[in-house]
Amino acid sequence: MKCRRCRGPAVIEVRRHNAGFCSDCFLHHCHEQVRRTIDDFSMTGAGERVLVAVSGGKDSLALWDILLDLGHDVDGLYLGLGIGEYSDQSGDYARAFAARRGAKLVEVDLPADYGFDIPAGSAAAHRVPCSACGLSKRHLFNRAALDGGYDVVATGHNLDDEAAVLFGNVLRWSTDYLGRQLPVLPEREGFVRKVKPLVRLAERETAAYCVLAGIDYIVEECPMAAGNRHLGYKHALDSIEEQSPGTKAAFYFGFLDRASALFTPQAAVEQDGLRACVSCGAPTTAEVCAFCKLLERART
Ligand code: AMP
Ligand code: FES
Ligand code: ZN
Repeated sequence: MKCRRCRGPAVIEVRRHNAGFCSDCFLHHCHEQVRRTIDDFSMTGAGERVLVAVSGGKDSLALWDILLDLGHDVDGLYLGLGIGEYSDQSGDYARAFAARRGAKLVEVDLPADYGFDIPAGSAAAHRVPCSACGLSKRHLFNRAALDGGYDVVATGHNLDDEAAVLFGNVLRWSTDYLGRQLPVLPEREGFVRKVKPLVRLAERETAAYCVLAGIDYIVEECPMAAGNRHLGYKHALDSIEEQSPGTKAAFYFGFLDRASALFTPQAAVEQDGLRACVSCGAPTTAEVCAFCKLLERART
């Protein structure tokens, strides 16, 4: 197979685009996909400071690398979740990348800074680990961005992630989540803008990007996520994609183009009831925000 761009020998095939690429042209293609996504969805503009949340995995490190290459003013944020060896190693990969690129990595550590870790905290709060983890991430990414004066938080969610979340939300008709499942969540009182610039790249492509760009990343998945519903949705979509390449992208981008607006009024109503958490000041619909509730239970 030949490279679509330079006609040299291809090293990777992307079936959904019906195209092959050589190494250099594939890296160029990934940069272009991210550049286009940022432009099309007005994710960030000149003079803005971006904080990219990096887990040490392929997606977020590829994203950081691409944002740096595209000339964005971008620092990394690593959140230590206290998940044993997995967290120790993922932090090491994030630090090594920052050192190699001479980039700044902001670090927040749940055990050191907040006195609990995800395994113990989720058990104490009777929550599944991924739920305690997800709400801690959302809260602390936002907190770190506000504290550091960043305009936008970028995460490494890719096409596979977003299609799987969409699939789960559709299976349950979780209309409130559907109303918020956008690649950009605009800033509002107490919240910085959240963006997902990798939605045009599949998981396989971010892995290939890292290999071809010489980026070391943690290959293991989080041990607490094993067997969760999200992984089941991913596998289901993978087998459909295998039969008909392009289905995931059609599902996700079709939703954005033709369906997501139908659900936004519902999401807007829910946002109206926000007030400041009495404990930390973060916007919340209750008296105490979900993170402070978790903190309270996890520490007792
Ligand atoms: P996940 O929820 O693990 O699929 O991760 C989704 C995105 O959240 C990643 O691509 C990162 O941008 C971010 N992320 C996940 N874990 C961490 C972490 N420990 N520290 C900073 N960012 C993270
Ligand atoms: Fe959050 Fe695994 S990374 S529970
Ligand atoms: Zn709070």
